[in-house]
Amino acid sequence: MTTPQPPAFPPPPEGSDSLQDAAWIEVIRKMEEVYSDLIRHEVDLERKNAALEDAQQFITSVVSSVSDVLIVCDNKGHVQQVNKALVDLTGLPESALIDRPVAALFAEDTGLPRRFCDRMGEAEGVSDVEVRLRTASGISDPVAINCSTRIDARGRPAGLVLIGRPVGELRRAYQALNAAHADLKQAQQQLVQSEKMASLGRLVAGVAHELNNPISFVYGNVHSMARYRDRIVTYLAAVHDNVDIEERERLRKELRIDRLLGDLGPLIDGTLEGAVRVSDIVKNLRRLSFSSQGEPERLDLSGVVSTAAHWAAKGRVRGAPVTCDLPPDLWIMGHAGQLHQVVVNLVENALDAVADRDNPSVRVAAGRDADGGAWVAVEDTGPGIPEDHILKVFDPFFTTKTVGQGTGLGLWISYGIIRDHGGALAVESLPPPGGARFRFTLPASAGV
Ligand SMILES: Nc1ncnc2c1ncn2[C@@H]1O[C@H](COP(=O)(O)OP(=O)(O)OP(=O)(O)O)[C@@H](O)[C@H]1O
Ligand SMILES: [Mg+2]
Repeated sequence: MTTPQPPAFPPPPEGSDSLQDAAWIEVIRKMEEVYSDLIRHEVDLERKNAALEDAQQFITSVVSSVSDVLIVCDNKGHVQQVNKALVDLTGLPESALIDRPVAALFAEDTGLPRRFCDRMGEAEGVSDVEVRLRTASGISDPVAINCSTRIDARGRPAGLVLIGRPVGELRRAYQALNAAHADLKQAQQQLVQSEKMASLGRLVAGVAHELNNPISFVYGNVHSMARYRDRIVTYLAAVHDNVDIEERERLRKELRIDRLLGDLGPLIDGTLEGAVRVSDIVKNLRRLSFSSQGEPERLDLSGVVSTAAHWAAKGRVRGAPVTCDLPPDLWIMGHAGQLHQVVVNLVENALDAVADRDNPSVRVAAGRDADGGAWVAVEDTGPGIPEDHILKVFDPFFTTKTVGQGTGLGLWISYGIIRDHGGALAVESLPPPGGARFRFTLPASAGV
């Protein structure tokens, strides 16, 4: 800014007296005062002008960087201002949009501009109306328009502000999201399926391994007995032929008949044991197919638990006392047969665990969780579960029991049943004096 020079004042006229001089001096002083005021005002004006330009610049940059479409109309519905997003969307220059009736921007005669104008001054305006705009090459994707009234400095309606968001993009993103979701669901189902196949594979491998052992010693024993039979047949033939006693004794020694007879007992016992083991494994495998078909039914869990605990306890000749602490009604949705089987497994395990203990006891309890789900717990006063077994007890064929006592499938099957019911089965060892607590939860279901 260049500071303007003050004007040159005329010198006082020749021969004026001192009074006139004083008047002139006063005039000049006043003029200088006025002039400096003028300068101050001009500086002030220029500062305000610069601030105004900055504000204008700021508003223009904000409007042009808004990604939504912006249309400003006067109160007759003529376009006064648009932003870059509209220019980009329509492909039309600003000059082709400004001053036109806003209706001319829409591709279809939706009657919307009239509705917009009718709503002028209404507090709620118009929101999320889908329209298509005319573009240089035809018609745009749908745009969701929101319209509100623009108020002037005196608080009167001065026109409309329309803000539009292209929804084509959003719709495409939504469709892509839906497709991704469907893909994910399919992948998840495949995973579940392959997990099922994998666990079936593990089961089959386990069954093969478990069966292999008893079958191989049954096979070995039968093989030995077949050889013994030949020797017995030879010896008996001699006996039936009434050979003399010396010959018979010779044969008896040669064929090692006494040793053979001594071996027969353990061979038969071992073979029987193997057969029992095979039959146990098969019996337990058959539990796997225990009615898992059909829809879950509404059932009283307390009733199921009580019957199951009773059955398990009745199966023992000198079993420990089993006490039940169950609420009168515990309605849930589920498969009664399967849940019965889980409780029988847990109570049988608990009874096994306390079999050799002083003060043996088993306690069964159930209740409802704060979230509406149900829980069942089976506690015993047995030795508890050693730290290094805690993670293994749910594995198929993990057992610490002797042949004929257990196959190690009970907890594995129970775990699967509870998981299929949407619940969870967990175990913990109790603090001294010790024992184990198995607890399962079932989710709250609608309509129970
Ligand atoms: N209440 C318990 N206290 C201590 N150990 C337990 C208890 N319940 C289960 N276990 C341990 O977990 C193992 C596996 O139990 P699981 O019920 O799966 O098989 P099992 O009882 O051995 O045989 P099955 O149930 O197939 O006849 C048991 O052998 C035992 O070692
Ligand atoms: Mg068991």
